[in-house]
Amino acid sequence: MEEKLANGHSHGKIILMGEHAVVYGEPSIALPFPAAVMTATVKPTTGALLVDCSYYQGIANDMPEVLQSLKKAIETALLSLGKPLRNIRVTIESTIPPERGMGSSAAVAVAVTRAIYQYYGAKLSNEALLELVHLSEQVAHGNPSGLDAVTTSGDEPVFFRKGHPFIPFQLHMDAYLIVADTGVTGQTKEAVSSIASRIENGDQKRTLNQIRSLGELAEQARHYLEQNRPTELGQAMDQAHELLTDLGVSSPELNQLVSAANAAGALGAKLTGGGRGGCMIALAETKEDAEQVSAALREAGAVATWITHLRQEEEK
Ligand code: PMV
Repeated sequence: MEEKLANGHSHGKIILMGEHAVVYGEPSIALPFPAAVMTATVKPTTGALLVDCSYYQGIANDMPEVLQSLKKAIETALLSLGKPLRNIRVTIESTIPPERGMGSSAAVAVAVTRAIYQYYGAKLSNEALLELVHLSEQVAHGNPSGLDAVTTSGDEPVFFRKGHPFIPFQLHMDAYLIVADTGVTGQTKEAVSSIASRIENGDQKRTLNQIRSLGELAEQARHYLEQNRPTELGQAMDQAHELLTDLGVSSPELNQLVSAANAAGALGAKLTGGGRGGCMIALAETKEDAEQVSAALREAGAVATWITHLRQEEEK
């Protein structure tokens, strides 16, 4: 008998600009990051719902607490289709590191939902996908903006301001983005609340000005991306890193990688996402420059690096 099998795919995301400031209503820009990918495979089995991923192999019901959002994603997809929570095995393969601000929890929910719908031959609109993913992201993050779900499932950069619809836009850019993992788990929650307490107890005016400046840099970055202005984008990234450092959300590891990237010829570099660990990004003009920057980042302690071409629209 031929075995029925279905696949669902997704990719990572990177915040290019506006992290932290977005919490205070400023704009942010997130990019799909196809260099890190997630695949979910669904196969038939008899009996209990089974899950197979690098952290856990076994019955879905016995999954550990840290994987509850994955469990929720699988169950939500099955229930939305009116299917029983049994008779399938879901296998996850991922090159997206978890807890590095790359959107791994949204990406896994996207891949699983797509695979389950394909397995049952059901149509899945983009809107329905985002709604289903939102439910498991609530388990993972409490109050998700939805930005991760949009960028891990879609191919376009997204401009986002809290309370406003996501605005996808097209890149007109010919440059390379290098992403480097410090190897240290990011601490988004702690970093977000440290900025909140600066506003409450510290220098409120200065902190709010820094946040506003980060928002302005995100606005500028969008124009640079649309007008193929990599040099200016690099400069804006450097300025954003400085502001984020002043806000106290960088770390010695991140600062070391940012300096190493700039010393190796990057057009600019900054932390990405929540900070205090996680990943940083750098911009390079050519592939050769990007490879040089990537090698320098590994030498400076990055545990992994990725290079992605920010392509001009015509090449797509
Ligand atoms: O680390 P990530 O990718 O989850 O990004 C966090 C982004 C913040 O702006 C720091 C927090 C938020 O909720 O927007």
